[in-house]
Amino acid sequence: MDADSVVGYFRGKTILITGSTGFLGKVLVEKILRVQPDVKKLFLLIRASNAESAKLRIQNEVTGTAIFQVLKEKYGLGFHNFIEEKICPLLGDIMYENFGLDTAKLRELSNNVDIIVNGAATTNFSERYDVAFDTNVLGTKHVCAFAKKCTRLKMLLHVSTAYVAGEQMGIIQEKPFLMGETLRVGTHLDIESEINLIKDTRIELKANCSTEKDERKTMKELGLKRARQFGWPNTYVFTKAMGEMLLGQLRGDFPVVILRPSMITSILKEPLPGWIEGIRTIDSVIIGYAKQTFSFFLADLDSIMDVIPVDMVVNAMMVSMVAHSEEQGQSIYHVTSSMRNPATYAVLSKSVHRYFFDNPPCIGRNGRRVRLKKMRFFSTVTGIRLYMAIKYKLPLKMLRLVNIALCGALSRRFNKLSKNYRFVMQLIELYAPFSLFKGCFDDMNLERLRMAMNKDQNNNEAYYFDFDPRSIDWDNYFYTVHVPVYSNTSVTEFYLTGGLYIAVASLEL
Ligand SMILES: NC(=O)c1ccc[n+]([C@@H]2O[C@H](COP(=O)([O-])OP(=O)(O)OC[C@H]3O[C@@H](n4cnc5c(N)ncnc54)[C@H](OP(=O)(O)O)[C@@H]3O)[C@@H](O)[C@H]2O)c1
Repeated sequence: MDADSVVGYFRGKTILITGSTGFLGKVLVEKILRVQPDVKKLFLLIRASNAESAKLRIQNEVTGTAIFQVLKEKYGLGFHNFIEEKICPLLGDIMYENFGLDTAKLRELSNNVDIIVNGAATTNFSERYDVAFDTNVLGTKHVCAFAKKCTRLKMLLHVSTAYVAGEQMGIIQEKPFLMGETLRVGTHLDIESEINLIKDTRIELKANCSTEKDERKTMKELGLKRARQFGWPNTYVFTKAMGEMLLGQLRGDFPVVILRPSMITSILKEPLPGWIEGIRTIDSVIIGYAKQTFSFFLADLDSIMDVIPVDMVVNAMMVSMVAHSEEQGQSIYHVTSSMRNPATYAVLSKSVHRYFFDNPPCIGRNGRRVRLKKMRFFSTVTGIRLYMAIKYKLPLKMLRLVNIALCGALSRRFNKLSKNYRFVMQLIELYAPFSLFKGCFDDMNLERLRMAMNKDQNNNEAYYFDFDPRSIDWDNYFYTVHVPVYSNTSVTEFYLTGGLYIAVASLEL
């Protein structure tokens, strides 16, 4: 297999893609269109109120993004026609059987689709259990049921996550889950019971005339409780694991590839180095440095953070599709870096500090430059809890007393800060399994796939389908590619999306 044969494989193919409005999905769409303009059709399943808004979502959130610039330049005025010809928006939702499509559309689709890529998921760690279950578990089941209807299907590629491994330590292999398997000894998972539990909880909430807020809180807590009961750290990875189990059980005899990336980071090489969407786990550290308001982070500097650039994930997706086309069975790939080229939090911390030392960010309301302070890292949850107690909880207690003495004059401020404090503590518990992760993802299967790629340098394959993390110089990647993206992001953007950052920044008393 070489780059030409991978590119050639997609000629004339019809592909159904879910999750194309997401970060990973749009990078995949762009790459397919860029390397194989003779792909027949990309059906993009989009959630929207009507066909027109589905089309608009693609224009605004997929083809309108900066990564399509290369294609825009290539096609010039013909770009719009090219997109119209190749992309077909499909109004639907994986939560529903047949994605909620009507019979005619379903027939058209099932008679034409060669490949299905299921990238749709809710990626919120503490999503409501019902929503996460409907999307990540039942959604996968619906995709699988649809795949069985496709008369010319060559393969189904399902995107999962390496963190279905939970908090396991040591070497983690690319092994499938058995139905009902859990990460806690002595427990057994029955997916049917989980469906009933969600149903019963919904009925109970309705019977109690619960408010939307209470309903959301109950469902979020239920997800975390169920996840932890079976040994997973959060609702997201728990439901992704169940999705894999169902897929393994229901797939029948069509080819399935389950791809498990670790933390996906900005584009390394193509089409636009540094491009990323949203602020993801490790980015809180970078933002903290950039704005100098976020003084600490939960991470062991010596431990390995498994990150992988999004273009490498897309390359692995495309090559694995070709490798397993029309081949019976299920293959699992870790698209990770910890085994081949581990990057520690220390590398990230040093590169980020060096970048902002060389390129001091403008900080503060008046735009004045502030001296860079080193960020403090905690390698244990106990350590960070203690720090939080001394730095924030104690002053909060004092504020509470002052508030009582002032007959509640500071109540608003006190309540806001208490709420923020609780929120940060919840985030610490949620992020700890990732930032203190002690496992190492074995990627032997992916290594075999890499070895199957022809290493002919003249073949352009290194450029087109590189998914070997050994080719990454992490310090250089962080310094020149990933971190600079954040130096220009506005404070407002940080405040809108910066999860942990917002919480900690707003805690300052
Ligand atoms: N990002 C990472 O670091 C990472 C790491 C490992 C694995 N993954 C996996 O990679 C995949 C893509 O992740 P991402 O970061 O690109 O996620 P993302 O940016 O959050 O995008 C999620 C996508 O799924 C779609 N979606 C959600 N619920 C849906 C539903 N019920 N029906 C149809 N579409 C639905 C979303 O559509 P809307 O736009 O309508 O919401 C969006 O297009 C996921 O399966 C995720 O588990 C991601």
